[in-house]
Amino acid sequence: MDTFAFIIHPINPKRDVQRKFPLLGKVLTERQIDFFSTFFPPVYISEITGIVSQATGKEIKGWFVACPLTPRRMLELPERVVYRKIIQTGRMAERLGAKILGLGAFTSVVGDGGITVAKALDVPVTTGDSYTVAIAVDALREAARLMEIPLASATVAVVGATGAIGRISAALLAREAGEVYLIGRRQHALEAARADVAAAGARAVLHVSTDMRDLRHAQLILTVTSALDAVIEPEHLQPGSVVCDVARPRDVAAHVAAARDDVLVIDGGMVEVPGPVDFHFDFGFPPGKAYACMAETMVLALEGRFEDYTVGKALSLARVEEIARLASKHGFRLSGFRSFEKAVTAEHIARVRALAQERRRAQRLGR
Ligand SMILES: NC(=O)c1ccc[n+]([C@@H]2O[C@H](COP(=O)([O-])OP(=O)(O)OC[C@H]3O[C@@H](n4cnc5c(N)ncnc54)[C@H](OP(=O)(O)O)[C@@H]3O)[C@@H](O)[C@H]2O)c1
Repeated sequence: MDTFAFIIHPINPKRDVQRKFPLLGKVLTERQIDFFSTFFPPVYISEITGIVSQATGKEIKGWFVACPLTPRRMLELPERVVYRKIIQTGRMAERLGAKILGLGAFTSVVGDGGITVAKALDVPVTTGDSYTVAIAVDALREAARLMEIPLASATVAVVGATGAIGRISAALLAREAGEVYLIGRRQHALEAARADVAAAGARAVLHVSTDMRDLRHAQLILTVTSALDAVIEPEHLQPGSVVCDVARPRDVAAHVAAARDDVLVIDGGMVEVPGPVDFHFDFGFPPGKAYACMAETMVLALEGRFEDYTVGKALSLARVEEIARLASKHGFRLSGFRSFEKAVTAEHIARVRALAQERRRAQRLGR
């Protein structure tokens, strides 16, 4: 049987450590978990069974293995120390018999985005970023449809537009939207991103900005920074806007949901997996659903494409389109929306639209 493995790591240290080690997660503080994570070895998490292609009937098996480092540690420690820990975790995947390895969350953010790790390991590697882009853009399109925001005339903002996922997502959205704001921290890098997005066939008017207040121009926002703390606050958003948050840790502050009931915040990157999949581990999603980056690894295993697929920070549109086609062929689908770990219902969307209309009317009347 063909096989894969996927590296996960604690993102919200206390909550995620408790998922595997209830007592440790309970007694240690977040700072202690951050500190001890440096000395902890890689951890075997679980076997993944029941993934079956809808196209070919082929079944695959996989494993979750964990790199113990938290996002904060991965950014604080020297890159070579972080690479060493990810490579050790990859070796565990090799010993289990994995034929391809996916790099989850920050294990694909650090350094060169998987190039050094792929060179050191015998097993082929993918970051999963190509399918993450495809699904994030799909989610924004679908949310726009539900909120009756016509994409062709909409203003879209991409936060983290200089990053691996942000830049190529902006390129795709700029082919369809009216205007696109590329938002980041470094003016020079944003100008380079703007040139790439324009060269990829943009029809949208392009703007660059280092000011989060420019988010108020956008009806549709895709946010995908590697910030450790939230970067989007309630006052940044216009009534009726949609924010698709692909970042882990999240970019949208938890209090946005409570403060702005006239805005739709959705989690980016959740997909339905074909077959009676059992992860034998609760990573916070409902049964049968996975992150898009996990799904990319599964699709490659189902397809028998045992090669370094998405590595490095320069993603290709051709690969984004190819993995979306292969995923769809094997039965992977954009899943229903969730917002801060709760399902988004049709009633919720209708309520957001009604409240947004009310706020816009009040704004026009200057109240
Ligand atoms: N949901 C999923 O399935 C999935 C899959 C893969 C990755 N992810 C998540 O996606 C995110 C980005 O991944 P990536 O590979 O694209 O990372 P990346 O290439 O390192 O890009 C990160 C971007 O975030 C920006 N940034 C970093 N810190 C910031 C801050 N404090 N404030 C504002 N902007 C900041 C960077 O801007 P500068 O240019 O100024 O540094 C850059 O544009 C991560 O959170 C990762 O965990 C999610």
